[in-house]
Amino acid sequence: MINIAHDIAKKKYGQTFPNPSVGCVISKNSKVISKAVTSQSGRPHAEEIAIAKAGSKTKGASMYVTLEPCFHTSKNGSCADQILRSGIKKIFISAPDPDQRTFKKSINKLRKNNIYVNVGLEKDKTYYLNKFFFKSILKKKPFTKVKLAISSDEKIAWQNYKSKWITNKFSRHHGHKIRSASQAILTTSKTIIKDNPKLTVRLNKINESHIPIIIIDKDLKIPLKAKILKDISKKRIIIFTSKKNKKSENLIKLGCEIILCKLNKYNKLNLNSIFKKIYKLNIADILVEAGGIFFTDLLKHRLVDEIHLFKSPILIGEKGKPAIVGKKFENLKLFLIDRKKFKNDNYYYYEVV
Ligand SMILES: NC(=O)c1ccc[n+]([C@@H]2O[C@H](COP(=O)([O-])OP(=O)(O)OC[C@H]3O[C@@H](n4cnc5c(N)ncnc54)[C@H](OP(=O)(O)O)[C@@H]3O)[C@@H](O)[C@H]2O)c1
Repeated sequence: MINIAHDIAKKKYGQTFPNPSVGCVISKNSKVISKAVTSQSGRPHAEEIAIAKAGSKTKGASMYVTLEPCFHTSKNGSCADQILRSGIKKIFISAPDPDQRTFKKSINKLRKNNIYVNVGLEKDKTYYLNKFFFKSILKKKPFTKVKLAISSDEKIAWQNYKSKWITNKFSRHHGHKIRSASQAILTTSKTIIKDNPKLTVRLNKINESHIPIIIIDKDLKIPLKAKILKDISKKRIIIFTSKKNKKSENLIKLGCEIILCKLNKYNKLNLNSIFKKIYKLNIADILVEAGGIFFTDLLKHRLVDEIHLFKSPILIGEKGKPAIVGKKFENLKLFLIDRKKFKNDNYYYYEVV
């Protein structure tokens, strides 16, 4: 039963941000009587939906849920209270909720109320599926993935900053899948100026969807005509900058959110403080799509959790723009999670150790 709960949670991954995707199954006499997954953008929770679907059949039933039910109240009371009211007698919880508002509190409350509670069934599956949730809560910073397309000599752009066709269309399609499973994309004004990307999700030729975009732009250099600022009513754009001037007013009028930051002694924005601010905006998972200078800075600040690397067989040469300034990928401590081939390109999915 817990495997069914994990399977349904997996299908909803990427659609419940900033909440984790949780699966819930209610069973009686070894038969599934209802199942549910966290709804879009996190509420209502899976347990609440599964209990409502099962109706009076919940009396004496068992619940299998991938994450500890919430202890903090929602519209219909906490999930723990709803479980108590439902007459469910046994509950199998895969992993405790790391959110301090709940952490082990619901488990204790249910036990005190004579419900049989089992914790830990297939807990690694819950951790793996919702890595972003467990890690971001711990660090109070968003879980950060970096996507990079590099040449065989580890360059991200030619000398003239052209970078569009390093990898093939199959790699790019996979890149769109990674975007679609991210809460927000983060980029730099330099990448916007050089590349003028749309940073939309295009999984097929017809549909184009938008996810929030965060721009690091110390001096507000982003052109008002940039493609990224088109269709602004359909998306959220957040700009971190040190400048408050006529341009920032114009960007606000356009619909951008401007977050003012102080410069540090190196005349740069403080990346650690920006990442904390992003988390406070309820953004728990970001995909960085920027160049090598920014990537190198992120690595230096230990802000990268995972890397999605697409490596093409082409050679750009000495004068190209490097993926990492002064280093090669072999110098990083990485754990290979997955590897695929997209025609002639190689795709490596790494965790930063
Ligand atoms: N192949 C790929 O996967 C890929 C992906 C994205 C982009 N690109 C290409 O990469 C090229 C740009 O790469 P790049 O390495 O030159 O530039 P980049 O990494 O995109 O951006 C560098 C800029 O980021 C800002 N920055 C870095 N650290 C900062 C900090 N701590 N605080 C504030 N700002 C900080 C600085 O901007 P300021 O000057 O404002 O201080 C710096 O000049 C473009 O050609 C683009 O098309 C390739």
